[in-house]
Amino acid sequence: MPTIGRLRYLEARANPRARGRGALVLIHAFPLNARMWEGQLSFSERGWRVIAPQLRGFDGDDGRPVVTSMDDYAGEVIDLLDGLHVEDAVIGGLSMGGYVAFAMFRHAPRYFQGVVLADTRPQADTPDGLEARSRMLALLREKGPTAVADEMIPRLLGPSTLSERPDIVDRVRGLILLNGADAIAGGIAALMARADSTDLLTSIHCPTLVVVGEHDAITPPAVGQALHEGIAGSEFAVIPNAGHLANLEQPELFNDVLARFLDHRV
Ligand code: MLT
Repeated sequence: MPTIGRLRYLEARANPRARGRGALVLIHAFPLNARMWEGQLSFSERGWRVIAPQLRGFDGDDGRPVVTSMDDYAGEVIDLLDGLHVEDAVIGGLSMGGYVAFAMFRHAPRYFQGVVLADTRPQADTPDGLEARSRMLALLREKGPTAVADEMIPRLLGPSTLSERPDIVDRVRGLILLNGADAIAGGIAALMARADSTDLLTSIHCPTLVVVGEHDAITPPAVGQALHEGIAGSEFAVIPNAGHLANLEQPELFNDVLARFLDHRV
């Protein structure tokens, strides 16, 4: 994976024979990494330059202190875009990737040609949510990333994926286990400290897609529906038979929704 500034990233260059469509930036969830977007790199065939940043620390230790705030993740993605000479883009994020997109929008809205908010929420953690994160941190310290994977996978994936798609379950486990304990701990700290972004919603005026898996247990469809209602003119789609990792569980359906949005709204 190439590196620019502080970040590694996956990139699929736009097919030169397709109509040039600009950049599509896809930011990964916690505790995964950029490879979770491999099923969306095919948007390059539709003329998009697809860039999936690897938030620092995930999938390998670069020897620097881990990142512990959404603003720092956001700043590093912005530096990456500058390094790649991307002036604006459709910027999407799934779950924590959505929190990073909100932080980018708060600091640098001019980079947004459009936004895709997948399986995410604008609210900060509740007191119960913060307690659950502290328990996960303790579990991580005691038993390591494998225990975090065991705890999270049943909530990250929908029931039919869990029972019928062992290949996807294994893939998600593999992605989680590429991450060191320090990166996961830094991610948990960033999740716990993140700002509430609800007040940003009325200032989002670029084309917006809100998308959520039908059986998402972490950010259920009602959360997506409320997010959609908070952003004037946004589109909303529910991906059938998917849990929280909708793009990975149902790539074709997710890509159909994303393609329709990009073709008709951006
Ligand atoms: C994620 O998928 O990024 C996490 O589930 C986010 C969260 O726990 O809030």
